[in-house]
Amino acid sequence: MKHLLGIDDLGADGIGEVLRLADSFLEVTRRDIPKVPALRGKTVVSLFFEDSTRTRLSFETAAKRLSADTMTFSAGSSSLRKGESLLDTVRTVEAMGIDAIVVRHPAAGAPNILARLLRASVINAGDGGHEHPTQALLDLYTLQEKKRAFKGLRLAIVGDIAHSRVARSNIYALVKMGAEVRVAGPPTMMPQEIERLGVTLFHNLDEALRGVDVIMMLRLQLERQGIALFPSIREYSRLYCLTPERMKLATPDVLVMHPGPINRGVEIAPEVADSVSSVILDQVTNGVAVRMAVLYLLSGAK
Ligand code: CP
Repeated sequence: MKHLLGIDDLGADGIGEVLRLADSFLEVTRRDIPKVPALRGKTVVSLFFEDSTRTRLSFETAAKRLSADTMTFSAGSSSLRKGESLLDTVRTVEAMGIDAIVVRHPAAGAPNILARLLRASVINAGDGGHEHPTQALLDLYTLQEKKRAFKGLRLAIVGDIAHSRVARSNIYALVKMGAEVRVAGPPTMMPQEIERLGVTLFHNLDEALRGVDVIMMLRLQLERQGIALFPSIREYSRLYCLTPERMKLATPDVLVMHPGPINRGVEIAPEVADSVSSVILDQVTNGVAVRMAVLYLLSGAK
């Protein structure tokens, strides 16, 4: 595997390999000196054309813990502002001698185009409403850590499914691994024929939550919606916010996940986000180990 553009680049076996390798790297991140020389001499560049806190810092930390050299590119302070194109920008960066590019871009498919043109490995760190494969991998790692097996696990993914790259990558990965996936959200935020992906569709949140082992909440992707898809945020919260009362519909040991950033009081009540059922910060911690595994597999093996 040279690039990671979407979950389909990994079969169930590939996902399993990333998760196994992440286990070893999680152990590394817990050492006093959390560093190994696996990518010494390699250069990893982060090219972010869209805002990020978790993914960007997580990839940069992962690369440093593997002893890679790192470069960071911010679109807002680059020569893109002087009219340079995306391709010329990326070719310029590649000419400096790099092994892997981590790309986030608002346009779906941008990492795929770069992968066709560059010699370096391309890792999709989120492209529009398309995919966010490393988020799904770290979510699966966290699920495996807490629940052991995917087969038979009942999950509800809730919110703006239509505009969520996290939902898309998670659905692909979870269905591949044998989990039972429900999706819940307003009809205006649901892709047509979503059931063809192997999920069960709900518009009523309470019905979707009944008996689930895991609840994955999503942020409203207002920056991608374009038009108003709901009368008001207050109305959305009334129908789709995960509250302590709604959590009682799930199994007693339910896990609450969220890729972040969270909007407290909109899709998730603060007391739920901070509850013992919440694994939101475990997801962040595991993200570093999972991205170490991905970077190692893509650029370490060459
Ligand atoms: N989950 C996620 O992609 O968060 P960031 O936008 O902060 O990177």
